Amino acid sequence: MNIAAAQSGGPTCAINASLVGVFSEALKTPQIDAVFGSINGIEGIINDDLVDLKRMIRTNEDMELLKQTPSTILGSCRYKLPDIETDGAEELYQKIIACLDRHRIEAFFYIGGNDSMDTVEKLSEYALNIGSRIRFVGIPKTIDNDLPVTDHTPGFGSAAKYVNVTVQEIIRDSSVYSIDSVTIIEIMGRHAGWLAASTCVLRTNDETAPHLIYLPESDFDADRFLEDVRAERAKHKAVIAVVSEGIELEAGGMRSGMVDNFGHKYLSGVGNVLENLVREEIGCKVRSIELNVMQRCSSHICSAVDISEAERIGAAAVRAAMEGKTGVTMVFRRLSDKPYVVTIEPADTSLLANKEKLFPKEWITASKNQVSDEAVKYFLPLIMGEVNIAMKNGLPLHFKIR
Ligand code: F6P
Repeated sequence: MNIAAAQSGGPTCAINASLVGVFSEALKTPQIDAVFGSINGIEGIINDDLVDLKRMIRTNEDMELLKQTPSTILGSCRYKLPDIETDGAEELYQKIIACLDRHRIEAFFYIGGNDSMDTVEKLSEYALNIGSRIRFVGIPKTIDNDLPVTDHTPGFGSAAKYVNVTVQEIIRDSSVYSIDSVTIIEIMGRHAGWLAASTCVLRTNDETAPHLIYLPESDFDADRFLEDVRAERAKHKAVIAVVSEGIELEAGGMRSGMVDNFGHKYLSGVGNVLENLVREEIGCKVRSIELNVMQRCSSHICSAVDISEAERIGAAAVRAAMEGKTGVTMVFRRLSDKPYVVTIEPADTSLLANKEKLFPKEWITASKNQVSDEAVKYFLPLIMGEVNIAMKNGLPLHFKIR
């Protein structure tokens, strides 16, 4: 039999490590011949655009390099499969199954977030209904950490490490002048504030900043924000506020209103809106910094725990498929924080598809502008360890398709 893997959704530092996990486990599995990569997620299967991964990844060095390469080597997509009941949908599903059959692909691995799990759920159900033996297994990934069931998602730990390192550097930079300032740092995460909240970890390095943290899980009030900033200015010369991109800030039509295929709004820009507000209402030196895509592709400061777990969960997915499992997504279950111990197990994909796990409300302080120490215990193990990155000419080496 052959297998295929695809990557979908927003990039992370760990998504290629999961691909390596699938690939290396397949090499160890005698029943598996070819390992295909589908270009641009499920679109590659629809368009019969597949690559032979054994030709692409030839050596152990290639695998090591791929693990330290951010983003998705096979490209990505935000493609929503129509429901099977929709007009013309069945033809599309048949086209997908036909492509997989043509290449003798009996297991398909989709590395993605909650939207991608929608594809795994739909295709696994369809395959079962038509009596196809093709198995569909999901491998989680997202810097947003918003997948239910799993303790956390591959890619999140590395993004959180980058965000913390960068915020710490911004703290140093912002405190050099004698004049007062406010720095607003905008962090990704869509509707979930996990990544912004993770900056509480800086407390463990004796940082008092960020002084304010705003998450989409709490309602946002501009007047209260200004009051908070004024109160912090009375205590600190350089106030640092972290805001998650998903905070509700619809007033004044500051968001574009554009949506992707899954109906998600294109976010970004809240930091800039708040910067203008502070400038107009408080009138001090103020700067906003949007960490933007750097937080999801900064492999040079990735978390070793994250990369190694991403690889392990990819390998576990292959073992699950070989046991005949389909319509499942591999998840982490945390057994303890200290020592940090997680197990990997399959969960029914329907429990994750299109669902979001938000940052726990009970970890947000009553003031709605900070998070509790409980959150620190959760985040800390995920950012641990450094990867010894291979360098050339002073720059990290990235794997490229030859
Ligand atoms: O999927 C994760 C994510 O990086 C979110 O944090 C962010 O809101 C979104 O993707 C951005 O989407 P795009 O890559 O399409 O701009």
